[in-house]
Amino acid sequence: MAPRRKRVLAANWKMNHGPTAALAFLESFLDRYAPHDDRTVILFPSALAFSAARTAAAARPDVRFGVQNIHSAEKGAFTGETSASIARDAGAQYVLVGHSERRHVFGETDAQTAEKVIRAASEGLVPVLCVGEKIEEREAGQTDAVVVRQLRAALQALPPATTAGVLIAYEPVWAIGTGRTATPGDASSAHSAIRAELQAIAGAESDAIPILYGGSVTAANAAALLAAPGVDGLLVGGASLEAESWASICNS
Ligand code: PGA
Repeated sequence: MAPRRKRVLAANWKMNHGPTAALAFLESFLDRYAPHDDRTVILFPSALAFSAARTAAAARPDVRFGVQNIHSAEKGAFTGETSASIARDAGAQYVLVGHSERRHVFGETDAQTAEKVIRAASEGLVPVLCVGEKIEEREAGQTDAVVVRQLRAALQALPPATTAGVLIAYEPVWAIGTGRTATPGDASSAHSAIRAELQAIAGAESDAIPILYGGSVTAANAAALLAAPGVDGLLVGGASLEAESWASICNS
């Protein structure tokens, strides 16, 4: 029998909430969400709000933090960038890698995504690797092929034991920020292709890897998506910005 994976609920704030808003958010959210042993909550604030948010949750180690992006280099002359070790030093445990906006707005390639995964893992940050197809790829029946290609490219250089420590988020590009959510059936189908490929890449150890769904998740559709076979958690953008709706999703 497959191991029971802990549910993961991750909030991607993108370029929203400065330190002041992050503080207000956490006061309200922590009042509404009590620690749960059976789930992990992760917040991804913007880089400049990271420390304020983390400090505001200092009494709640059950709430974890990650950064939205890192550079693949260890350190150096990369004005404006954040390294994995700086993120670790600031208290990050996770990093989003390969998010649709990094790939399709900032032009990050599969190869750059792979470099970031390697850097994150080597510095002790858990990569949350995002994969997902564009609408034209879905319509051409290429969904599984696209996510498999993205997984292979990003994970091929990692030893299986390290791969077993990553998180995957399936985020169809057409569902992100559009109000058009994948059906639970669509999510299950892509998650099952991802699960099979993880098994091929990392063998039995890959059973531990949680696969999250993301793309227009709301407090209203979270429970149905979480009930879909193969969906181990959610990566939420817009609906994670309000403490009330985010607490409702975390309490689902
Ligand atoms: P959304 O974003 O929930 O606003 O669609 C999800 C994401 O980009 O991670």
